[in-house]
Order: sequence, then C-alpha cells, then structure tokens
Amino acid sequence: MLKEITYQCPSNIALVKYWGKKSGGVQLPANASISWTLSNLFAKTTVSQEMASSLEVDFYLDGQLKENFVPKIKQFLDRIIPLAPELNNRKYTIHSTNNFPHGAGIASSAAGFGALALCFAELEGKFVSSSEEFYARASEFARLGSGSACRSVYALPAVWGHHNDIPGSSDIHAVPFPFEIHENLKNWMDAVLIIDDGEKSVSSTEGHDLLKNHPYAEARFKQANTNLTRISECFVSGDVDTFMKIVESEALQLHAMMMSSEPYYLLVKPNTLAAIEKVWAFRRQTNTPVCFTLDAGANVHVLFPKSSEIQVKNFIETELLPYCKNQLYLCSDTGGLPIKS
Ligand code: DP6
Repeated sequence: MLKEITYQCPSNIALVKYWGKKSGGVQLPANASISWTLSNLFAKTTVSQEMASSLEVDFYLDGQLKENFVPKIKQFLDRIIPLAPELNNRKYTIHSTNNFPHGAGIASSAAGFGALALCFAELEGKFVSSSEEFYARASEFARLGSGSACRSVYALPAVWGHHNDIPGSSDIHAVPFPFEIHENLKNWMDAVLIIDDGEKSVSSTEGHDLLKNHPYAEARFKQANTNLTRISECFVSGDVDTFMKIVESEALQLHAMMMSSEPYYLLVKPNTLAAIEKVWAFRRQTNTPVCFTLDAGANVHVLFPKSSEIQVKNFIETELLPYCKNQLYLCSDTGGLPIKS
C-alpha cells in the first residue's frame, strides 16, 4: 500500500462562470464553464495513509492542526468513497500549504481540493498516473470537493459541464479544451488585485443555492452556454477583442446574479469598481489588450498577454495599487500543470 503522496495543484480563474447547480445530483453545474489555471498560485498537499477500523482524518494547514477543516474534508471523502470504496477504513493525515498569503481573499478551495483529489486518485491506484483517465478521475474527485476545483487539473483551458460544441465535455469532470488554440490567446497572465481580504458575507456554496428560484436563472444558464460557444470560437480564431468582451460580461453577469438574488447581496467594493474603470481607461488610451474578471469576491483579476507584461505591470503599479489592500497584488502565469513530487 502506498504510504504517502504529494501533489501541487494550481488555482484557476473562470472566464465563463459556473454559477448555479443542477438539482438531482451532487455538484453538477447548471451550465458549462471554462477557466485558466493560475500557475503561480497553488496548493501543495501531502496525504499519508494507514489502515484503520473506520475513516479518520487529521488536517494540518501550514503545519497547524485545523479541526475546523475536517468536516468539509470528511464530506468530500464521503462523496468519493462510493466511487472508490478501497479508500474507506483508513486514517489520513493531510498536510497542506498555499503559496499565496492567507486572508488575501483568494479562493484557495480550487487549488486545495485539486491537490487533495490528485492525491486520492493516486491512492486509489485505478489509473496510471498522468494518463488521460487519471486526470479525468482526479477532476471528478475534485468536483465533489468544490465544483470549480475540477478545472484545476489541466494545463490547457479546462471546460466543465456538458456542452454540445465541446466534444467529450461532461458534467462529471472537466476536460482540456479540445481544439488548437490561436497564438493570440496563449500565454496570458493574471494580476490579482487584492481589493479586500475580509471574510465574504455569502460563501460561493450559499451563492449557488440562491440560484434556485432566482428569477433570471434560466436566462443566465442559457447565456453562459452561448458565451462558451463564443469564447471557444475566440480561442480558435484569436479574436482578442471579442474574447475580452465576453470575459468582462461574464464577470458582471456573475455579480448581477448576486445582486438580484433573494436575499440580494453585494461582494464588490467601491475600489473594485474604481479599478475596473481604470482598466477600461487604460485600454481605451493605449489599445493594450487588457481586461478584467471577478470571482465571487471583491478582488479584480487583470488579464493580459505576457507580451504586454511590462506595460500592464507598470500601469498597475502606478495607477491601481492605491485601490489594493496593503498595496498588494499577486501576478501569475496561466496554464500551469499540477506537479507530483
Ligand atoms: C464564482 O466551486 O467555490 O468562482 O462547488 O459550491 O464549492 P462549490 O462552489 P465553487 O464556486 C465558484 C464559482 C465561481 C465561478 C467559477 O469558478 O466558475
């Protein structure tokens, strides 16, 4: 029996957003989504195992025992054990670290569950590690921890959710984007402006739930699927202008859904909007390809091709840092792979 396994897994940022779950399944998305991994923002997780008479979990974050994380990890294991019964009746000791600061308001669940899922797919030992089946299995496990995490195991843009235009796409696990990507949309970067590092008033899981009975839910799911078709076309044709419009529209639609939920809520802050206005002005004035997206929080993700790195970093450092908490922003390449060590 394998004693111990370690994986590093990147976080990801959605370009077309997963927001809303299908009823009648566990963690099935209401629409298809697509994301880039954030190579330089990752979790590194080691799982050690020994036989036991029941399932036991100890979890350490940065070397500190964290009992409050255990229920979420047990729920994750309760969901994957029916698929992989051999993982039951073991004691797992899990050590995890993130390479980005805690409380930076960066969603760590995608990287964390991605790394955990890769470890458990390896411990299951059903598929040869690094094979296509192995990544699909790890992605399926990751989905059961946190939906968006299932997109973190692929270096190519990852599509999650069945979509007629994406061969092989599935609600069960993500797949790598199946078509050749145009040079214009390879090697982009994400500079995450840390606008707010406080606890969110409504978690993503609660937010998804508010899509049930949401007056605009069906229209939104349809629009997301249309945007996925349009963004796939951009990936192939290299149409950066349309790509940026779709990405920004998706971010605003995500937050529009939050603002029109019942009860309604707001996760953007005044500095989120101020930073967005600055990005628009900079793009207008310089014609630099740069756009923004948001996840379920106040932080602004500034996306741009690596070829514009110097101009955009200079713009961020001269014009956007005043909007960042403690002047903090984190910059990452996109398209990183998980790494086994
Ligand atoms: C706004 O994956 O965090 O980041 O499946 O309940 O764990 P659960 O939710 P989660 O939702 C993230 C949603 C999002 C958009 C996205 O990543 O697609």
